[in-house]
Amino acid sequence: MLIKNIRIENSSETTDIRVQDGKFERIAKDIAPLPGEEVIEGKGRMALPPFIESHVHLDSALTAGDPCWNLSGTLFEGIECWSKRKDKLSKEDVKERARMAVRKQAANGIQFVRTHVDVTDPTLIAMEGLLELREELKGIVDIQIVAFPQEGIQSYPNGEKLMENAVKMGADCVGAIPHFEFTREYSVESLNFAMKLAEKYGKLVDVHCDEIDDEASRGLETLACRAYEAGMGEMVTASHTTAMHSYNNAYVTKLFRLLKMSKINFVSNPLVNTHLQGRMDTYPKRRGVTRVKELLAAGINVSFGHDDIFDPWYPLGDGNMRDVVHMGLHVCQMMGYEEILNSYKLVTHNAARTLHLSNYGIEEGNPADFIILDAENFYDALNEKSAVLYSYRGGKLIASTAPAAKTVHF
Ligand code: FE2
Repeated sequence: MLIKNIRIENSSETTDIRVQDGKFERIAKDIAPLPGEEVIEGKGRMALPPFIESHVHLDSALTAGDPCWNLSGTLFEGIECWSKRKDKLSKEDVKERARMAVRKQAANGIQFVRTHVDVTDPTLIAMEGLLELREELKGIVDIQIVAFPQEGIQSYPNGEKLMENAVKMGADCVGAIPHFEFTREYSVESLNFAMKLAEKYGKLVDVHCDEIDDEASRGLETLACRAYEAGMGEMVTASHTTAMHSYNNAYVTKLFRLLKMSKINFVSNPLVNTHLQGRMDTYPKRRGVTRVKELLAAGINVSFGHDDIFDPWYPLGDGNMRDVVHMGLHVCQMMGYEEILNSYKLVTHNAARTLHLSNYGIEEGNPADFIILDAENFYDALNEKSAVLYSYRGGKLIASTAPAAKTVHF
């Protein structure tokens, strides 16, 4: 297959791409088609490596309003609604909804997903369902699974055992939720446990870390310190870290030294945390999103995630990373020209680093995983809400969208 006249990422020039045996065989200007070769006219549109969802909860996806709507929009009413929904959880139910959510993601150009799965459940049903779906979709949309202790490790009966069982069953990453543990001691203990578990089984780590507006919530320093001391920083991710929004600047200055030394990754979830945080404030209300702009300026890796898709914690969303980036740029005040133009990196290259993907990117010799957007650059794509026209995985078309035709009658 030969794709003519395509822009790679935000390049001002077009090029041609030959895909052969599932790989990018050649990238150059004016490649002549071989006899009988399929030729696709790129028309100067942009090609990107596939979008990556680096933080989502597929086990609760698509359950908003079932059996009740979260009318206050708070985290706590979300937990109440979820506990009612949890009663009718089955492996098939989890698998079916997760599959539907992944199909929505695929239609929006996503090919790699890191999902958190609640393991504070003695039956580990959701984990079983997601593990089966991971196998079913391998090579089409690759799923990484985090063993996520929604109700704590130290604070939940047999929490440590359930975590270890989930890892033995096949989870890719170890999670934790230090800000939800009963005490600060439990918080530290849970992080020590999670890091040791990951080390023992050679797993990645992704912690729901300080997702609260409490400026005293400081799981992050413990996580970064353990990662630094174990030399595991690049394998470790701190998700949410919304308390950092409320830390005082003197503490943040000290903290950033450790964060840089540790080399850990961050995932921010601007849609959901803008919606959920600041709920105990009157006015002014805090935005409750971590310091993305400052982390990036310090050379620390940050990606964006959708977090929840149409569930008790977030009543909207169809798994489109463009919406996440759009909100993130606003709420993090990253609206400079270059910041908007290059913002796709938050849901592509930066996320690939967090997920430890290898051979990712449009380069000769890499697997031909790419998407084509109906725009010449990402600034326009974001502004015009351009569709992902094609999504190719290993050179095979896995999703396509016909662009909407708008007509103005005056
Ligand atoms: Fe989350």
